[in-house]
Amino acid sequence: MEPKFLTSLLTLLLLICLSTIIDATNEDATRKTMEEFSGYPTDSHHSILSFSLDSFSVESEKLQGQIEELSTLSDSPAPSVTRILYSEKDVLARRFIKGIMKQAGLLVREDAVGNIYGRWDGSEQGLPVVATGSHIDAIPFSGKYDGVVGVLGAIEAINVLRRSGFQPRRPLEVIMFTSEEPTRFGISCLGSRLLAGSETLVNTLKKAADAQNVSFFDAAKSAGYNLSPDDLSNLVLEEGNYSAFVELHIEQGPLLEEEGLSIGIVTAIAAPASIKVEFEGNGGHAGAVLMPKRNDAGLAAAELALAVERYVLESGSIDTVGTVGILELHPGAINSIPSKSHIEIDVRDIDEKRRNSVIEKVHESAINISQTRGVKLSEFNIINQDPPAASDKSVIDAMEFATKQLNLSHKFMISRAYHDSLFMARKSPMGMIFIPCYKGYSHKPEEYASTEDISNGVKVLALTLAKLSLE
Ligand SMILES: *[C@@H]1O[C@H](CO)[C@@H](O)[C@H](O)[C@H]1NC(C)=O
Ligand SMILES: *[C@@H]1O[C@H](CO)[C@@H](O)[C@H](O)[C@H]1NC(C)=O
Ligand SMILES: *[C@@H]1O[C@H](CO)[C@@H](O)[C@H](O)[C@H]1NC(C)=O
Ligand SMILES: *[C@@H]1O[C@H](CO)[C@@H](O)[C@H](O)[C@H]1NC(C)=O
Ligand SMILES: [Zn+2]
Repeated sequence: MEPKFLTSLLTLLLLICLSTIIDATNEDATRKTMEEFSGYPTDSHHSILSFSLDSFSVESEKLQGQIEELSTLSDSPAPSVTRILYSEKDVLARRFIKGIMKQAGLLVREDAVGNIYGRWDGSEQGLPVVATGSHIDAIPFSGKYDGVVGVLGAIEAINVLRRSGFQPRRPLEVIMFTSEEPTRFGISCLGSRLLAGSETLVNTLKKAADAQNVSFFDAAKSAGYNLSPDDLSNLVLEEGNYSAFVELHIEQGPLLEEEGLSIGIVTAIAAPASIKVEFEGNGGHAGAVLMPKRNDAGLAAAELALAVERYVLESGSIDTVGTVGILELHPGAINSIPSKSHIEIDVRDIDEKRRNSVIEKVHESAINISQTRGVKLSEFNIINQDPPAASDKSVIDAMEFATKQLNLSHKFMISRAYHDSLFMARKSPMGMIFIPCYKGYSHKPEEYASTEDISNGVKVLALTLAKLSLE
């Protein structure tokens, strides 16, 4: 670096530091600045506004260090991450998050299933809270950024606001949701679904057991959550709890990176559904049973998998997607005709009706296949069939405002993956902020988001929260 450049850089830094200190000690001036964020600028002292944004500094190295440290709390070797609900590593990770929340001066509490909340009280009592958050559980052999950026990044967004001298009017709250991933009990977004209120889920959980036949309640107990079925029903939020919920997340798709954009403002989350199907036939010896005598449960499953693809494509919309990610055959021997098959189907769309019509056709097709092949359709169970969620205009406006103030390139987009936000949207105005991730990779060790992109996301989140908290 040229000495002259270095000198001017140092001078600039000194100036910024000095002004930050002046700003922080003069609370009134800061508030005035932030009142302009609320969207009703008086004489538009633009210099004050942009100055104050210059003091918006993310401690990227510290944040990256936290992401790395959390990734070591894993049941699989680095760079992969495996962190399953209520496991020993999950408990350690929870402790880690609570510690970082406390360091940020947040008031930490936990509910019956272990959703963790860190609150920063606002200047006015009794107002609904502006919340942000995501999850830190990780499916087997996945990456370190999914969910984590929206929890550790949210705590850093609080730090950014504190350092800038900001004082929220409404309380701000960071939430770490329990079990967004369905790995252990087959239920995704467990914590946020319970907050949204679901009696069906409560009943499912009463009977739920993991692959080792450990019940949900025993698993929770082993992690220190000694809860009763009643506690589950009591978690449901009231409409007045939150005035807004914003989630920061990696895109998990390639669009932002391909288009060279910094921020995705999510306007809607696609509606997911998942279905479990089982066929049963007579099985038999692969050599001895002649073809006309067979009722092959495996071929029924294969035919249904192709039917899923056909009906999804026939919807005519690029937004309809269907996947058969699980297809298991019993007994699973080369010389044995499958006597049982189990397939799990995932169908999503931003249009709920179109998605439901695909599900109906798949159901009809399963019945037809079972008849033509002489197998029994022993199960056709729609595990979940959630409606899509639209982001709220107030939250979209705040996210767009923040992105523009920070001069970051952005686009409006749909989240095709679903998130805890889908369920928070049932109880609160909702929005999501996406940042690019390498090649759109997610749920694998190659998952990666750059420090700069994370830092941009944290800044946009911080400013969005600031604006919403003043509204
Ligand atoms: C699983 O546990 C339940 C309750 O303890 C028991 O009734 C059931 O038989 C067990 N199932 C298996 C497959 O071990
Ligand atoms: C929602 O509000 C009710 C009533 O004020 C309160 O008891 C409950 O703890 C709140 N829930 C959350 C998650 O903050
Ligand atoms: C199922 O079979 C009935 C009667 O053959 C037919 O009308 C219908 O189109 C079939 N549906 C599907 C989805 O294959
Ligand atoms: C954004 O761009 C405007 C116009 O170029 C500039 O005045 C302002 O300082 C920039 N703000 C930030 C936060 O970089
Ligand atoms: Zn996630």
